[in-house]
Amino acid sequence: MAIRMLMVVGAGQMGSGIAQVAAAAGTEVILQDRDAQALQRAYDRMAQNAAREAEKGRRSAEDNSAMLNRIVVTTDIKAAAQAEMIIEAIVEQKEEKLKLLRQLDRICPPRTILASNTSSLPITELGAATYRADKVIGMHFMNPVPVMPLVEVVRGLATSDETYDEVMELAALMGKTPVAVNDCPGFVSNRVLLPMINEAVFCVYEGVATPEAVDRILKLGMNHPMGPLALADLIGLDTCLSIMEVLHEGFGDSKYRPCPLLRQYVQAGWLGRKSGRGFYIYE
Ligand code: CAA
Repeated sequence: MAIRMLMVVGAGQMGSGIAQVAAAAGTEVILQDRDAQALQRAYDRMAQNAAREAEKGRRSAEDNSAMLNRIVVTTDIKAAAQAEMIIEAIVEQKEEKLKLLRQLDRICPPRTILASNTSSLPITELGAATYRADKVIGMHFMNPVPVMPLVEVVRGLATSDETYDEVMELAALMGKTPVAVNDCPGFVSNRVLLPMINEAVFCVYEGVATPEAVDRILKLGMNHPMGPLALADLIGLDTCLSIMEVLHEGFGDSKYRPCPLLRQYVQAGWLGRKSGRGFYIYE
């Protein structure tokens, strides 16, 4: 059955992107965050993206305002009682996600699917924190959400076929291409991507090359749309570090050890674009 009422929890870069794409596909969306200012910033970002679509003639101003009207923003988590599916896109910290999922499990009707946009945390463990592990699944969107076609759909050990089918359907409705994988540290996307980024940081740490040179090599030599360090700044260096930690702990293999320079940047608060400074400086 098609999802008509979606709730997105967490109004950061990922959450606002997910809300925008779902609303553009005709789904009613509740965007929730406990921080009212984050909600305002998210709404402004969505309106700005919509205006750009109109400017480029890809969507009429009328369709744009209908799209924005389908999004309700709230700080009240109890709004989850109205949703047929929730996609959580809060901070990438296991304890925070477990706490939220337990809370949603209490608030939501039994049929509600709880999807997580986690980039590497175990879906099986997130599911086990609820009384509906069969309805817990990973829906991993890529940044920037409005642009990237992929959704990595992650099945936990207990995820049911019914939940999987509904999520595949929603992803397709949102104009994304879902690709299914099984639960494993870092899934496929970040198990492959993050060690490359971490190795790029090691090149800077060891004085092999500057960030600019590392990025130029991957862009011009391998046709990557952006270099690994610019991409790390886009993803957020704190997120990159936590994914490396999940890989390191999950596989127990030293090849996944986070580069000390990545850790130091995070300690300094140099988190990439969102903090104005990472491997590059942003105005
Ligand atoms: N929101 C909405 N639209 C955006 C956007 C954003 N944040 N950023 C860029 N765009 C749009 C632009 O408006 C532009 O649209 P048009 O073609 O209609 O004009 C288009 O994307 C291209 O943008 P630009 O011309 O500004 O720049 P670009 O050609 O260099 O593309 C990019 C920018 C799409 C980000 C491209 O560099 C790219 O694909 N980079 C790699 C991104 C990537 O690898 N993402 C995955 C990260 S991993 C992840 O997300 C998973 C995880 O768990 C960590």
